[in-house]
Amino acid sequence: MSAWSRVRTAGVAVAAAVRDPIHPDDPAVAVQAATRRHRKAHRCGAYAYGEGPLPATIAAAVGARRIVEVGTALGYTSASMALAVPVAHVDTIELDHEHVLLAREQLAGLGLQDRVTVHEGDAVDLLATLEAGAYDLAFFDGFTPTHEVLLALRDRLRVGGSLLAGNLILGPEQEVTRELEDPSRWRTCTFGETALCVKREPVER
Ligand SMILES: C[S@@+](CC[C@H](N)C(=O)[O-])C[C@H]1O[C@@H](n2cnc3c(N)ncnc32)[C@H](O)[C@@H]1O
Repeated sequence: MSAWSRVRTAGVAVAAAVRDPIHPDDPAVAVQAATRRHRKAHRCGAYAYGEGPLPATIAAAVGARRIVEVGTALGYTSASMALAVPVAHVDTIELDHEHVLLAREQLAGLGLQDRVTVHEGDAVDLLATLEAGAYDLAFFDGFTPTHEVLLALRDRLRVGGSLLAGNLILGPEQEVTRELEDPSRWRTCTFGETALCVKREPVER
């Protein structure tokens, strides 16, 4: 992504935050609020996803039945995606032990303990243990995306599955932006700091 694109993306995110003309109900709002309280108290990396219900809306739009997420925090986005698609199962990955325990508690409070599995550990290690080519939607929300983790998420997706890659505003390595901009591998568009990328069949050359 060029410097100009980054500035423009930041501008769009700020404008969206200021204007924000529509306020749809968010059934996972209590988890979002708990996440914000937790982060304020602990000054940790549990930032509830800034674009709110976007992952859930995309999960509903594509009818995602199998969803994988990197970056659970207290379970806000995994809960909202599971609530948006009542037949979906979410595998969500979180490194921080305390976040894992709190997320399990929050998810159980919403009755989602059987539909959201919280895996504790590093994203790259755990993604390798999940079924390849089987997921409809992959959501990255664990700090700055790396090329390694995006490739691992790509491998989990079926062809036609969607990757929602958040936190692009944090300035990922060039390989990440090159990967997501590659039209032979993805059909991509951006929403503020997030890219939505549909996995394409690799073209034989
Ligand atoms: C921005 S928060 C996730 C917010 C969550 N999606 C939500 O909307 O509430 C990022 C989380 O990713 C976790 N994390 C960071 N690096 C990770 C890694 N390599 N593997 C797994 N989790 C990671 C952090 O501990 C943190 O809880």
